[in-house]
Amino acid sequence: MAKLYVNPKHQLGHVNPELQGHFSEHLGRCIYEGLFVGENSDIPNTNGMRNDVVEALKEMQIPVLRWPGGCFADEYHWMDGVGPKEGRKKMINTHWGGVVEDNSFGTHEFMELCRQLGCKTYINGNVGSGTVQEMSEWVEYMTFEGVSPMADLRAKNGHPESWKVDYFGVGNENWGCGGNMTPEYYGNLYRRYQTYVRNYKKGEEIFKVCCGANAGDYHWTEGVLKTTHDHAEHAHGFMNGLSLHYYTVPDDWEHKGGALNFDEQKYYRTLQKTLYMEELIKGHGAIMDQYDPEKKIGLIIDEWGTWYDVEPGTNPGFLYQQNTMRDALVAGINLNIFNKHCDRVKMANIAQLVNVLQAVILTEGEKMIKTPTYHVFNMYKYHQDAELLESYVETQEIGCEDGKVPNLHESVTLGRDGRIHVTLNNLSATESYDIDAVFTETDIKGVEGTILTGEMQAHNTFDDPEAVHTERFDRVEIGEQGLKFTIPACSVLHLAVEI
Ligand code: AHR
Repeated sequence: MAKLYVNPKHQLGHVNPELQGHFSEHLGRCIYEGLFVGENSDIPNTNGMRNDVVEALKEMQIPVLRWPGGCFADEYHWMDGVGPKEGRKKMINTHWGGVVEDNSFGTHEFMELCRQLGCKTYINGNVGSGTVQEMSEWVEYMTFEGVSPMADLRAKNGHPESWKVDYFGVGNENWGCGGNMTPEYYGNLYRRYQTYVRNYKKGEEIFKVCCGANAGDYHWTEGVLKTTHDHAEHAHGFMNGLSLHYYTVPDDWEHKGGALNFDEQKYYRTLQKTLYMEELIKGHGAIMDQYDPEKKIGLIIDEWGTWYDVEPGTNPGFLYQQNTMRDALVAGINLNIFNKHCDRVKMANIAQLVNVLQAVILTEGEKMIKTPTYHVFNMYKYHQDAELLESYVETQEIGCEDGKVPNLHESVTLGRDGRIHVTLNNLSATESYDIDAVFTETDIKGVEGTILTGEMQAHNTFDDPEAVHTERFDRVEIGEQGLKFTIPACSVLHLAVEI
């Protein structure tokens, strides 16, 4: 019997809703088809946004959406995407499939989408191929209220009121697709570009995100912070966040393997690679601690998730992949890790929202399916805006030779609804485990459980959209000390505990 300890008396930090954030890029069928079909489409929509997708995302309580990229952001010129649609420039999306981008989804459409979703906005600016003036004018266009060239242009384009930009990324992957820069060079550009990301409205200050590292590139984190910290120390609002990108690739980038038809060895290896996220947070966090011991700068993990070979027969530049119970575990583990490090991690955005990489939703024409990853987000939503509680689970090592993982993985919070929310993952593909959950000095009045479980390859298809779905889990015994239950193999469990 494995013990799970929860100490409701010990709160460790606040879990920002944004830890469950999302990312949408002009890539493949994420924006076009997945989210935006245009007002004249036969697919039911509101101002061009798919009603079925918007409804599903609202149910999941999407807290924040990042746009327009990714690599696309550093070749995006926002002016191309505003004004009458017939006059908008067409361009080639050189990063993603070489397809024509007609700019019919631009700033107004993104803001409309976020309005419908009721989520915060995260805009990623262009440092790689854009000018300071361009970035500065975009911020003015979106957020300035009053008389100014950009505010006037926004009004002329049909939106006199300004919008709220919650987060602004000053470039993306500037060590790679965003300009192949050195950390010192980028650090200096960051100092310059961010100066013109003006805060026009009191009480609506923009949270500025500096481009951080790829995976274990600690040299980048060190170089950027070294180049900027003298300023960061004195200038309020100079740098609110530093990003980190880390994708779970089962083997290596050359031989990623497919989203389906994998064996147990690949399954465990994928989970092992996912667990590396914690080491990365600690590693980059330790460098940040040297420059920012008070943890004023948030670590923003604005790209994470699985990256497999594309589904056979699909455009290689569109990054379309299926999504199984393996992905559900990847999501569950990552979200638990973010909760546990909520003192430093202030936002995280899975890549990407619809039809791209580890998507929560897949579409085919008018059909839509929720992936296992969707269900995990929907179960974890109770952690949003909650207080992290001290917890610990006894584990044993399982897996295979080059894929060793702990059998169980957990995080626990005290939710806004006054209940304790436990999310526990069973990483074993085959074994169930008996759990004895001990809650320190706590009377438990009731418990509601929800489970997502299936064999590791289980996934939803357009013909069988409910193959993987959540179910009520009521096989929980309430005892003097806590709870007793058995967690099935390959599962993500949520318990809402009334105290
Ligand atoms: O999410 C796909 C791509 O991965 C993004 O455009 C880029 O930032 C990263 O390399």
